[in-house]
Amino acid sequence: MSSSSSFVKVVLVTGGSSGIGQAICVRLAAQGHRVFGTTRKAMEQPNGYRLVDMDITDEASVQRGVEEVLREAGRIDVVVNNAGLGIQGPAEDITPELALTLLDTNVLGAHRVCRAVLPGMRDRKAGLIINISSLAANFGLPFRSFYSASKAALERYTETLSMELEPFGIHVVSLQPGEYNTKIATSRLKPATISAVYEKAYARTMDVLGSSLHYSRDPDEVAVMVAEIMVTAKPKSVYRAAHGMQLFSILAKKLFPGRRFEQMVMKHYK
Ligand SMILES: NC(=O)c1ccc[n+]([C@@H]2O[C@H](COP(=O)([O-])OP(=O)(O)OC[C@H]3O[C@@H](n4cnc5c(N)ncnc54)[C@H](OP(=O)(O)O)[C@@H]3O)[C@@H](O)[C@H]2O)c1
Repeated sequence: MSSSSSFVKVVLVTGGSSGIGQAICVRLAAQGHRVFGTTRKAMEQPNGYRLVDMDITDEASVQRGVEEVLREAGRIDVVVNNAGLGIQGPAEDITPELALTLLDTNVLGAHRVCRAVLPGMRDRKAGLIINISSLAANFGLPFRSFYSASKAALERYTETLSMELEPFGIHVVSLQPGEYNTKIATSRLKPATISAVYEKAYARTMDVLGSSLHYSRDPDEVAVMVAEIMVTAKPKSVYRAAHGMQLFSILAKKLFPGRRFEQMVMKHYK
C-alpha cells in the first residue's frame, strides 16, 4: 500500500500495550501510519509506534495524553477506543461499586476520549472513531452481566454519536470482536465472594468459557478489519470480527428471540 501523505493517518489507539490494541498499533504502523497507543504502565517504547501515558478513567490524564499526541503530530485523524476490561461473577454478587468501575472504563472511558478529540475533528470536518465493542453487546451471557451491559451501552452511545457527528464529516463505527487470544481473561474484574448457591453453575460456565477454542484466534484479525474500515469512504455502522458459532449467535438471537435464545445459551454453557 502507498504511504503518500494523504494515506498516512495519525491514529490514537487506547490500550496499545497488549492484545487487540497492540495488534492494531503494530499493523497500522507497519502500513506507514503514525500511530500512538496508550498505556497506564511504565513500559519500554515499542518499535514502530509510540505509547503515551493515559488512564481513560481519569479526565485529566485523557486530556494530557491527547494534547501530547496533538503536540507531536498536529492532528488526530482516527481514534480507536479499544481500552477495556472484562468482568465475571454472578450478577447478584457484583456490587454497584464494582459495576461502576467497569462502566467507567468501558463506556465513560471512550466518552472521555471522544470529548477530548472531537473539537479538533470538527474543526477539520474530518475524522473516524472506531469503538471496540463486543459480540457480547448483542445478548446477555451468564455470569458476565455487566460486560454485556457495558458493551450494549457503548453500542447505543456509538449510534448516537454517529448521527450527531455526521454533519461534521466524522464517521463513528462500532467493531464487535468475538473471542480473541489476549490478556482480557486475566484482568477481568471479579466480586470478592461468590455466593454458594451460584458456585457450581459459575464454575461450569467459566470452564466452558475458558476452554473456548475461539480464544486462540489471533487479534490481528481485528486489526485487519480496522485497517479496512480506515480505507472505506462510507463505513458501515457496525462491523463484526467473528466466525462460526459466534457469528451464528447473532442470527440465532434474531431468529429465536426471548426464552428460546436464553435456552440455547444455557445449553451451550451446560
Ligand atoms: N479478547 C477478546 O476476546 C475480546 C472480545 C470482544 C471485545 N474485546 C474488547 O477488546 C478490547 C481490548 O481487549 P483485549 O482483549 O485486547 O484485552 P487486554 O489484552 O487485557 O488489553 C486491554 C487493554 O486496555 C487497556 N486498559 C485497561 N484499562 C484501562 C484504563 N483505565 N485506561 C487506559 N487503558 C486501559 C490496557 O492497557 P494498560 O493496562 O497498559 O493501561 C490494555 O492495553 C476491550 O475493549 C475488550 O472489551 C475483547
